Amino acid sequence: MSYRFGLIGYPIKHSLSPWIHGNFLHMAGLLGSYSLYEINTQDSFTEQLKVLRKDKLDGFNITAPYKQKIIPFLDGIDKEAEAIGAVNTVVNTNGKWIGYNTDGIGYLRSLMNAYPFDLQDKSKRILIFGAGGAARAILYTLSKNGFNYIDIANRTEDKAKELKLQYELSKTSLLSLQEAEQHLEEYDLIVQTTSIGMNSTQDSAIVSINDKLSNKNIVSDIIYQPVSTRLLRDALNVGARIHYGHTMLLYQAQYAFELWTNKQVKVDEMENKLLEQLEG
Ligand code: ATR
Repeated sequence: MSYRFGLIGYPIKHSLSPWIHGNFLHMAGLLGSYSLYEINTQDSFTEQLKVLRKDKLDGFNITAPYKQKIIPFLDGIDKEAEAIGAVNTVVNTNGKWIGYNTDGIGYLRSLMNAYPFDLQDKSKRILIFGAGGAARAILYTLSKNGFNYIDIANRTEDKAKELKLQYELSKTSLLSLQEAEQHLEEYDLIVQTTSIGMNSTQDSAIVSINDKLSNKNIVSDIIYQPVSTRLLRDALNVGARIHYGHTMLLYQAQYAFELWTNKQVKVDEMENKLLEQLEG
């Protein structure tokens, strides 16, 4: 058989997903294709999804701005995606669209791959910057995997409060960005999920890194364009260990591919190739 996958979102012309899944298909020895379905925000979403239904894809990904909007159109939703409130992968099971979220697991896999020994200890202290969709997925997965000491720093405190309540995070403290900045070195892992560091904010970081940080701290940024954000560069300069966002991109795709094909591909060897794509 030949698999047919796709991606919906806007804008997606420069998406690396066709390249990533093309490689996965090749590595798994499978035939297939991965097409882009760019849905302009002015178009009728309902009408565009009818087109997608007719195309009978085996599975597809959903990216911004449709990860929430897709939910009412599904025939079923996995409990993790439901708790996160966003779907980035749909599996077509005998004509039924079942929604999943691979971001949290993708993040955890990429982190475990980079720092397997550090993360065996579930009492590690974690700080997450942000309380949007990506933060929700990461926070949910980390807490479900036994990490209890997770604090949240967000510009808008109410959004962080909502997350703490929804996920019943009794040990979680909510910090302002300024408070977080003053206590960075107390965290074993710092996870940056906001958009600060991308595009027009490439010269900025969500907080200033100081030299109290050392190789005891891991600083992780989920932004992958640019690959090396200001935050990661500053963290490297003071001797902290870092974790790059492009690895999460690969592992969330790996998990989606598994859901579609039941095959696990090894992604380590693709990390450098992806870097070339991103930097080239
Ligand atoms: P995503 O799905 O990528 O997580 P999102 O749901 O729009 O995107 O969330 C964006 C995150 O970046 C939020 O935590 C947001 O903070 P607020 O909750 O205060 O809006 C954060 N963010 C975006 N721009 C920011 C800025 N200029 N300063 C600080 N935080 C910012």
